[in-house]
Amino acid sequence: MRFSLAAILVFLACSSPAPKETPQNPAVKEAPPESYQKNVDDNAKKLLEEGRKVFRSDTFGSEAFWGDKLRLHEVLAGEKHGGTGPGVTPKAALALGLRVDFGAIPSSLGDVIKAHTLSFDDPENTIALLKHDAVVGVKAFFEGDKMTSIGITCALCHSTTDDNFGKGIGRRLDGWPNRDLDVGKVASLAPNLKPVADLLKVDVDTVKKVLLSWGPGKYDAELLNDGKAFRPDGKTSATLLPAAFGLAGVNLHTYNGWGTVTYWNAYVANTQMHGTGTFFDPRLDDAAKFPVAARAKNGHLRPALADDKITGKLAALHFYQLALPAPTPPKDSYDQNAAKRGSQIFDSKARCATCHVPPLFTEPGWNMHTGEEIGIDDFQAKRSPDERYRTTPLGGLFVRAKGGFYHDGRFATLDDVVAHYDRHFKLGLTQPEKADLVEYLKSL
Ligand code: HEC
Ligand code: HEC
Repeated sequence: MRFSLAAILVFLACSSPAPKETPQNPAVKEAPPESYQKNVDDNAKKLLEEGRKVFRSDTFGSEAFWGDKLRLHEVLAGEKHGGTGPGVTPKAALALGLRVDFGAIPSSLGDVIKAHTLSFDDPENTIALLKHDAVVGVKAFFEGDKMTSIGITCALCHSTTDDNFGKGIGRRLDGWPNRDLDVGKVASLAPNLKPVADLLKVDVDTVKKVLLSWGPGKYDAELLNDGKAFRPDGKTSATLLPAAFGLAGVNLHTYNGWGTVTYWNAYVANTQMHGTGTFFDPRLDDAAKFPVAARAKNGHLRPALADDKITGKLAALHFYQLALPAPTPPKDSYDQNAAKRGSQIFDSKARCATCHVPPLFTEPGWNMHTGEEIGIDDFQAKRSPDERYRTTPLGGLFVRAKGGFYHDGRFATLDDVVAHYDRHFKLGLTQPEKADLVEYLKSL
């Protein structure tokens, strides 16, 4: 049967969305089990659940690096469990910023924690937590009582806990950056840092010095591209661990806009976590800009397809990431009337909304700016292919105040951020206007 285009257009016009008051045809309300719509709904649920698992627990085979090569597990295990030294006490692990997922702990152990009778000075208890997969983002492998290796997951840097059962102990908050975590210090415990030194073509002492220069809440996801550990001003090149929530609808990701969420997930799983997978990005072949990555051929990682532990997980991981909403700040954490006034200022006089376009709070489209445009140096921008800064989405700002704002935390408070823009754009904001703007930022 054939219809003319005109007939189809007439049909489409007539079948445009029904007015709200017309009740929906019951036949389309409940999708029959065999329908495509049902497939879509089931797929969404499946991707969400799979993606959550990948984000929280998948090491992508990174134990081949962190365990087998760097032998990080030996320090955590201690002599008694096949490693070296005394082991690491729960107190020391928490002090490094590691988090304990209370939900993963069996009730017997949970009761001991709740009763405050668990010894945080006994390394055996760290082993017990690892055995129960309760240390967020760290996955230990055991053969009987012997710890044989250790891998890391996305949750290490991008999840924290609500601290309901003590500092660093609680329910998981996926996507909330762990600004207490000292990634560099954790990595520096590894007995064998030579593989990292070899990649960078420096000695082990230099690697240690670099790792210890990061400090809590920071990691340098680009060091293994360009080998630039320090900025011209001598400070670390590491950036703050960003929020991994509130990213749906946002085009480019990372502070300097390397690519989409799924681009970056593949980049991190392969080149940073050192999982085993396929990764293609010929931009990394630029030996002048990315000497380390070009040498290691990081833009051309191609294991045998059967060994690829990453590619098959990217769809679900992407879906889960986009599903993470920015958290809502508690109503009493800001002045609501001031925030309302601040919203007007944000949209008009302060011109914030020209870049941070509500409700995404970044630009639909190519959301990138030079350092000059936003009034800062371009060191970090220049470390990326497009040499710009990505307009940071602002949802859930209140959970990433620790460590400061902007990619390196250069502005300690939101007041400092607003003062910077006022100066740079010559906005002429009055003191009360600045204060209102800050209350609005706290409400996002
Ligand atoms: C060792 C810490 C660490 C681990 C592990 C890690 N990330 Fe990240 N992640 C970072 C840092 C630091 C950045 C910022 C990088 C930059 O801007 O240069 C980042 C950026 C991101 C972003 C961009 C956020 C934005 O604002 O656009 C996403 C998405 C992300 N990571 C997801 C993941 C996923 C998924 C995994 C697991 C495959 C993962 N990360 C593992 C530290 C980590
Ligand atoms: C020209 C575009 C542009 C304008 C206008 C602009 N911003 Fe930004 N904003 C950016 C970019 C790009 C970044 C990322 C900077 C970085 O990470 O170094 C950013 C970062 C921020 C951050 C830090 C977020 C974080 O998590 O670290 C805040 C807060 C912010 N802007 C608020 C504002 C306010 C308030 C205004 C208006 C006074 C404003 N911005 C105007 C582009 C802009």
